[in-house]
Amino acid sequence: MAGRNVRRRRTLFPQTQSNPMKENGMNTLKDLYLDQIQDLYSATRQSRDIVIELEKAATNEELKEALHKGHNGISAGMDVMAGIARKHDVSPDGEHCKGMEGLVAEARAHVLEEEFGDSDVKDAMIITQYQRMAHYAIAGYGCVKAFAERLGLDEDVQLLDRHLSNTYDGDEKLTDLAKGGINKAAAA
Ligand SMILES: [Fe+2]
Repeated sequence: MAGRNVRRRRTLFPQTQSNPMKENGMNTLKDLYLDQIQDLYSATRQSRDIVIELEKAATNEELKEALHKGHNGISAGMDVMAGIARKHDVSPDGEHCKGMEGLVAEARAHVLEEEFGDSDVKDAMIITQYQRMAHYAIAGYGCVKAFAERLGLDEDVQLLDRHLSNTYDGDEKLTDLAKGGINKAAAA
């Protein structure tokens, strides 16, 4: 079933640059690993700009700062994914992540196109939308890290592990802000 989905997606989003790994289909864990690295590259590329917009839309100064760091973290993630892809002779651009496309559209609709009468409520909505994107990325990073471990790619594991824990830290900071005051203020 997964194979059928992959083929359908390729028809909808033809590769802009050829990936020699995939010319003969997806046969190995390494093929799967690099496919998902490309998917995460696409995900980070798509989520980077919306986080700047969320930062501008936020009112709470600590939240703005956390989102700014989040944006820098996403840029770092793009670099990590691109570096890994190129190291394995694959273009980072071979996939389009429809999942993150949907989450970005959700953030746009629920924050930027919504009318808020209370800035604390808006900040709480920003956190919720950011965390949906962050958790999607965390799931992806965790999986590729596990693939890299199984493939014995120690250098990749280190890079992915560091990036994954930075992403976790950023996510936790937002949870702290939500539970430490923003949700309470939004309820007032
Ligand atoms: Fe995806």
